[in-house]
Amino acid sequence: MTCTIVVGGFFGDEGKGKIVAHIAHRDRPSIISRGGVGPNAGHTVTVGEKAYGVRMVPSGFVYKDARLMIGTGVLVDPRVFIQEVDLVGVKGRIFVDQRCAVIDEDHIRRDKGSEYLAKKIGSTGTGCGPANADRVLRVARLAKEVPELAEFLIDVPREINNALDAGQSVMLEGSQGFGISLYFGTYPYVTSKDTSASQVAADNGVGPTRIDEVMVVYKAYPTRVGEGPFSTEMTSERSQTLGIEEFGTVTHRPRRIGVWDGEMAKYSMMVNGGTQAAITGIDRVDKECFGATGYQQLTRKAKSFIESAELDIGAPITLISTGPDVSHIIDLRDEM
Ligand code: IMP
Ligand code: MG
Repeated sequence: MTCTIVVGGFFGDEGKGKIVAHIAHRDRPSIISRGGVGPNAGHTVTVGEKAYGVRMVPSGFVYKDARLMIGTGVLVDPRVFIQEVDLVGVKGRIFVDQRCAVIDEDHIRRDKGSEYLAKKIGSTGTGCGPANADRVLRVARLAKEVPELAEFLIDVPREINNALDAGQSVMLEGSQGFGISLYFGTYPYVTSKDTSASQVAADNGVGPTRIDEVMVVYKAYPTRVGEGPFSTEMTSERSQTLGIEEFGTVTHRPRRIGVWDGEMAKYSMMVNGGTQAAITGIDRVDKECFGATGYQQLTRKAKSFIESAELDIGAPITLISTGPDVSHIIDLRDEM
């Protein structure tokens, strides 16, 4: 009976999708709903041999017993949405709030065609910035005006609050990371909206008093795509030596890679009001930890990394991801 928010504590791509999928299978929420900006997000969820990259469908879709929703504050690109719904086969259990603002072709043109957004900021070119600007200017179209979305429309805040009243669990998944929050990130090298837990709650019409758990997700080696400051960034020679290489799910651009940033981890925990933390990529700290499912299987090196990260964060690290598959995880939540 919990309402849980999952958000990213660094610059995005911390592996929130995989954490959401894991928590969903364990906690059996009746609704999994997306907060965050829109289709600029890319979540990769790996189940067995298959890797799915989704931008609109909540990454919790792999848990088949939940209804899936897109919160009121999230931008919807109808073309991307409909294509993904078919691709991952979630028709009949996915819904969109009728008041979501819509991304039109013109928004994409303005995003990609803008020297400032595309070049200086390094936007994803998915139209999110211009669409959010139009929403603020009150000229954006809403989902209820798009005929192709008619069959998906719902009142997301009402559905979620009713589920909570009925004693069911709900998961709210954020997108992007703390460092690219419009308010708290490295402005102007940020996305077009706040990305913290309060925003994810607001996106779904869930008041602060109804949230029980905020899980902040960190990765052992943080990454950043696009432009902007990244204080712990390493040289590409160093990351090659470590054997780390990553590419964006949406843009396929190489991700910049850094080392653990304790200051940032602490600050993002504070603003998010995190109650627990998850850490991904422990198999990169020590290859021997790949696929581990119990804390005792971790090496000394990995354990000391986790212990020192926990001191930085100031909250318990209850989920430890040791590889890409949903099964590659250590869950310490029962031991709390
Ligand atoms: P926009 O959100 O497309 O306007 O891009 C603004 C900045 O946020 C760029 O640096 C993007 O690379 C970054 N960004 C936006 N969405 C994501 C995401 O889901 N993961 C990582 N970076 C993102
Ligand atoms: Mg991503």
